Amino acid sequence: MMHAAAPFEWSNFLGPFHVVMLHLPIGAFVLAVLLEIWATRRPSEGARQAVAVALGFSVAASWMVALLGYLRASHGEYDAQVVYWHTVLGLAFALLITATWLLYVKWYPAAQGARLRLSYRGLLAVSSVCLVAAAHGGGTLTHGSKFLTEGAPPALNRFLGNLESSAKPDPRAAAQMFPTQIEPILARKCYPCHGAEKQKGKLRLDQRDLAMKGGSSGEPALVPGDPLKSRLIVVSLLPPDHDEVMPPEGKEALTADETMALIRWIQSGASYGEPAIQP
Ligand code: HEC
Repeated sequence: MMHAAAPFEWSNFLGPFHVVMLHLPIGAFVLAVLLEIWATRRPSEGARQAVAVALGFSVAASWMVALLGYLRASHGEYDAQVVYWHTVLGLAFALLITATWLLYVKWYPAAQGARLRLSYRGLLAVSSVCLVAAAHGGGTLTHGSKFLTEGAPPALNRFLGNLESSAKPDPRAAAQMFPTQIEPILARKCYPCHGAEKQKGKLRLDQRDLAMKGGSSGEPALVPGDPLKSRLIVVSLLPPDHDEVMPPEGKEALTADETMALIRWIQSGASYGEPAIQP
């Protein structure tokens, strides 16, 4: 069977070019700043024109990239707040360097006044800050918020406070989690059949070692650190009319929040904390 192709849209085709083309205005802008520094040391008509050309090119390219960015933002599934700030800063950069460029080609060369030169350089500096901030926002959108620091030396990362990763197993947090969040779920929805009194499927979930041993299937119901190998998660995620779904059909199912809590608890080591209260 043929798959129906999505209808053609220019924004689908052109949007991704935003990420490629955005290097043009950045390169031209950096070149303009370097040329400006050079022209300060050796002022000449040629140097002045070179700055004007580099800056003008950066202006034209910025607006093109802004347009492509608009097309891209309409399709990507990105964090809305980061997109918002990236857009504001990107547009601010385009506006600022347009103003800088106009100031430069119109008035700066004729006047040569100290105040004009200062405001021109001030604009260049503010544009640079905007550019760095906009670029960082863009990097965050495409590569994630830790794209600059994930390869950094551990000492630097500790300094930046990047190490508090929630994905890492934290046995102490899990131990505190059990009596407050986990045991109430298990006691209400699983212990009636898998507790001290009844062991349906030869499975007991109220003790860690027995849960890890599993029931009549021989497969462990609990694999600390690995929720998707833990049968107790696998069977809870089955469709409601499945033969093996837990709790069985007709009993009150786990809510999404409860399943998430169990997954997090297993992920972080599945500690039972203090000895479990016997039901
Ligand atoms: C109403 C009783 C009942 C409740 C409540 C219940 N189960 Fe079960 N469970 C069973 C029965 C019966 C079996 C055996 C099914 C079989 O062998 O086909 C079983 C089997 C299992 C197994 C497979 C054991 C093995 O190794 O074969 C797992 C895992 C399991 N249950 C997890 C859970 C979890 C997690 C909960 C709570 C969210 C739960 N059950 C709630 C009745 C129940």
